[in-house]
Amino acid sequence: MSLILAPSLLAADAAHFGEAAAAARRGGAAMLHLDIMDGHFVPNLSFGPHVAACLNKTVNLPLDVHLMVEQPSRFVEPFCDAGAASVNLHVETESTPALLSLLRGVHERGLRTAVTLKPGTALERLEPFLEHVDMVLIMTVEPGYGGQAMLPGSLGRIAAARALLDAHGGRILLQIDGGVTLENAADCRRAGADILVAGSSVFGAPDIEERVRQFLALEG
Ligand code: DX5
Ligand code: ZN
Repeated sequence: MSLILAPSLLAADAAHFGEAAAAARRGGAAMLHLDIMDGHFVPNLSFGPHVAACLNKTVNLPLDVHLMVEQPSRFVEPFCDAGAASVNLHVETESTPALLSLLRGVHERGLRTAVTLKPGTALERLEPFLEHVDMVLIMTVEPGYGGQAMLPGSLGRIAAARALLDAHGGRILLQIDGGVTLENAADCRRAGADILVAGSSVFGAPDIEERVRQFLALEG
């Protein structure tokens, strides 16, 4: 399938989120990645459902909510209400039955679901979720901050995740997140990623729209 680019707003100028997201959309971005951080699951703070709801009113892109929070059960509903298109839960946060129940609730509301793994979490941890998600997100940096370099070994991990998803019928989209650049994007695609989340390499660019076009042009 063709590349889906999901710019991560974490790297954008927070005083101009709307303009930044609109530029990414004009360039051809197909979704907008929102990094939600609570200062507990990760050391950093970002933004909450109010910001997501405001973006949902002004940005004509599906909002993909990446919940980096200790108790996602407290936040799934508020982000669904805020207009999220998909909700992404870390497998490290709650018990498998609790996460499965949250995912079921998200699906019942007609949203897409995903589970995410930190870099040190075994891929096998995905297995109980594969019947219940539309996407899997593999972190290619330690979550918490934008602007980090992709961890060594990430391409092998992407390929292994791809193989696991293919063995389950190939229905689930594979997202990767962290340190994606114009230079490594093609390698990530060859390793099997469907959706590239990119923060600083998009919103740190002098021309956001043009940078999105450059990513999409990598595949002609
Ligand atoms: C990190 C976040 C990422 C981050 C990516 O915890 O999940 O989505 O915004 O930023 P870059 O692309 O700058 O590594
Ligand atoms: Zn993210």
